[in-house]
Amino acid sequence: MIVLQNVGYRYHSGPEVLHDLSLELAEGSFHFLTGASGAGKSSLLRLLYLAQRPTRGKLYLFGREVGGLKRHQLPDLRQRMGVVFQEHRLLPHLTAYENVALPLRIAGIKPKQIKKHVTEILEWVGLANEMHALPITLSGGEQQRVAIARAVINQPDMLLADEPTGNVDDELAERLLYLFEQLNRQGTTIVIATHAEHMINRFAYPRLHLRHGNLRVMPPLQLPETLRRGTL
Ligand SMILES: Nc1ncnc2c1ncn2[C@@H]1O[C@H](COP(=O)(O)OP(=O)(O)OP(=O)(O)O)[C@@H](O)[C@H]1O
Ligand SMILES: [Mg+2]
Repeated sequence: MIVLQNVGYRYHSGPEVLHDLSLELAEGSFHFLTGASGAGKSSLLRLLYLAQRPTRGKLYLFGREVGGLKRHQLPDLRQRMGVVFQEHRLLPHLTAYENVALPLRIAGIKPKQIKKHVTEILEWVGLANEMHALPITLSGGEQQRVAIARAVINQPDMLLADEPTGNVDDELAERLLYLFEQLNRQGTTIVIATHAEHMINRFAYPRLHLRHGNLRVMPPLQLPETLRRGTL
């Protein structure tokens, strides 16, 4: 689903911010992406959602090498991805409802279906009373939930989320992670960048850890062998 071979990335003529990343993420996998501020998490996600291309090495998405893709081939691939940006990027002139409805409108879903799905997902993320509000009138955490609803509404094959629970309380963060978990159970491949250590430890998924642009893959926390039944 996602394959990186010796991928490096630099912004313009600046220093390389991602070095020699090699990685294979299977279809249907769930990974947290961690690392200190400035380690390169958002830069790596931008490569994965095709906002920028590797400056060296090869990146394969859905079995296709992205270096060889023409500009007009990108929208098809992007439609298969749900993306939650660190800075939300809601369309300011559209209401919460209209922002979330957008991917379904683009996919040509019937208005009646759109209404049902958008209403349901906005209620689920706790925004039943804010559906017709413009983004500017919403709090940071509310905007973040609209962005999450928009990213998951069309059941994407791949979900890439940059700090999706950064502005919400722990209870809501857990509810949102549950949403991602259920999506993953239905086959969506997921990568979530986060700083929330307690969340990472609570959900047993492997972790892609970046340090100064270098990547290490860490397995999830495992129970000590001693505590497993049948080992004594
Ligand atoms: N648009 C840009 N132009 C030039 N350099 C950039 C740009 N965006 C990020 N960088 C640099 O790339 C490096 C990695 O930044 P990145 O935003 O990927 O980190 P991050 O892990 O997402 O950090 P945070 O946790 O603060 O979001 C940093 O050194 C940063 O200064
Ligand atoms: Mg970032």
